[in-house]
Amino acid sequence: MTFRRNAAVVVLVLAGVLLHGVLGGSSSHTGFARTGNAPPSTGGVKNFTAPAPSSGALEGGCGCGPTPPPWDFLNEKLAALFPVIQAFKRSITCDPLGVTSTWEGTKLCDSHSGGTAYKGFYCDYPPTANTTLTIASIDFNGFGLCAPSLAGFVDAFPDLALFHANSNNFSGAVPDLTALPFFYELDLSNNNFSGAFPDTVVPLGGLLFLDLRFNRFAGSVPPPVFGITLEALFLNNNGFTGRIPDTLGSTTAQYLVVANNRFTGPIPRSIFNTSAHLEEVLFLNNDLSGCLPYEIGLVEGLTLFDAGGNQITGPIPLSFGCLAHAEEINLAGNQLYGNVPDVLCLLAKNAKLTNLSLSDNYFHSVGHHCMELVRSRVLDVRRNCILGFPDQRPLLECTWFYADPPQHCPFVPHIPCDLPGYHKPHANKPALLPAAHRQGGGGGN
Ligand SMILES: *[C@@H]1O[C@H](CO)[C@@H](O)[C@H](O)[C@H]1NC(C)=O
Ligand SMILES: *[C@@H]1O[C@H](CO)[C@@H](O)[C@H](O)[C@H]1NC(C)=O
Ligand SMILES: *[C@@H]1O[C@H](CO)[C@@H](O)[C@H](O)[C@H]1NC(C)=O
Ligand SMILES: *[C@@H]1O[C@H](CO)[C@@H](O)[C@H](O)[C@H]1NC(C)=O
Ligand SMILES: *[C@@H]1O[C@H](CO)[C@@H](O)[C@H](O)[C@H]1NC(C)=O
Ligand SMILES: *[C@@H]1O[C@H](CO)[C@@H](O)[C@H](O)[C@H]1NC(C)=O
Repeated sequence: MTFRRNAAVVVLVLAGVLLHGVLGGSSSHTGFARTGNAPPSTGGVKNFTAPAPSSGALEGGCGCGPTPPPWDFLNEKLAALFPVIQAFKRSITCDPLGVTSTWEGTKLCDSHSGGTAYKGFYCDYPPTANTTLTIASIDFNGFGLCAPSLAGFVDAFPDLALFHANSNNFSGAVPDLTALPFFYELDLSNNNFSGAFPDTVVPLGGLLFLDLRFNRFAGSVPPPVFGITLEALFLNNNGFTGRIPDTLGSTTAQYLVVANNRFTGPIPRSIFNTSAHLEEVLFLNNDLSGCLPYEIGLVEGLTLFDAGGNQITGPIPLSFGCLAHAEEINLAGNQLYGNVPDVLCLLAKNAKLTNLSLSDNYFHSVGHHCMELVRSRVLDVRRNCILGFPDQRPLLECTWFYADPPQHCPFVPHIPCDLPGYHKPHANKPALLPAAHRQGGGGGN
């Protein structure tokens, strides 16, 4: 299973159905793409054992006993991995669940036959040596282990495809896994990693899943990160700063989460280029600013778009009316203004939108079809500037805002798709009438 990418990807998709889950921080990936459930091997594995020597030679507990002779192991690959695991075991400084006490003896692939030795290690037959059972996956999710470094450990498993370590206390340098030809999933979420973005992951050609969320990484995200051919990229809940690179448009990810960092600047207009892949994207709770790019409406496969809790301004582009697959759109807590476009509200009637959060902005009016959405609680427009609506900002605050809005944003009346049942109004006047001439006027982003 481990080496069959498609199988893992299916599980990944299931795990990602609603990305808001990744903001929770617990081990939401536990159990996916595991290899431990395969039936025990039936022949094919050569037992190259000669006479069995005294295997009682292995000391228990500390793992500091002599290495058993190679013929005690299922194959040479496993014999070579034994000292790697024992060395790592000696470096572990906390083990609240006592898992390392199972890392004893020569049965490194015990889980493959339903055994309980070597908890966290899972075996499979690598594609290039499909009669040699070896460790293909390591899943330490939720083990709570502490170790100063993973370098010299994870990178020493030549056939490794997955390393999952959600909710441990690992730190130090992220190991260089570029020499592992089958590697495709790295989950270091909810650990104690810090420092700059780990450059070692950028050259990982086969990587499909990268999860660095809930650590203390800081600084800017290098532009080449979005060139990795990933299907899921989770960078949320770190201390990343700087602009989201324009290379965002190169991402092949279906799931992209950069929420809860300190990114600044606008959402890159290159986002249009992700339309073949991107389904769920969370920019939530950063310090993003600038105008809401028209190009978001070109990402037609989006099911979840969340840019809440930033300082994004301008009107909602009419292109948003093209997001026919969108189920949830969150723009709450920004500095958006103007009219809530009718085409956006029509997505709830004619398409799949069930949650449109626009509270805590400066909208002054809503389209005709938005009214019923407010009543049915699909649309939240509390704390805006909509006259006659309940729970709005004080009039004075709205007057001040409209007298001096943060930035003039271009209003693009063009709708880049066919909208069933929608007839364009006669006049598409800019939503903001006495247009501001601030910050050089045009350009927006
Ligand atoms: C390999 O042979 C040894 C010694 O005969 C035996 O103890 C061990 O169980 C065998 N392993 C397998 C996987 O058959
Ligand atoms: C893997 O197994 C298949 C048969 O299942 C065989 O045709 C192929 O040659 C094997 N590949 C390697 C590299 O051993
Ligand atoms: C990491 O260690 C700290 C201090 O020992 C502890 O409070 C925290 O819960 C640990 N984190 C995890 C994910 O185990
Ligand atoms: C987390 O990392 C910091 C240094 O970056 C270290 O001082 C602290 O002990 C680590 N916590 C744990 C539980 O390992
Ligand atoms: C669009 O994506 C491709 C890769 O999918 C990339 O090579 C290209 O540079 C991207 N263009 C923009 C404008 O983002
Ligand atoms: C709608 O989305 C907002 C923002 O993401 C969220 O806070 C709210 O709980 C959602 N409402 C429902 C009914 O799911």
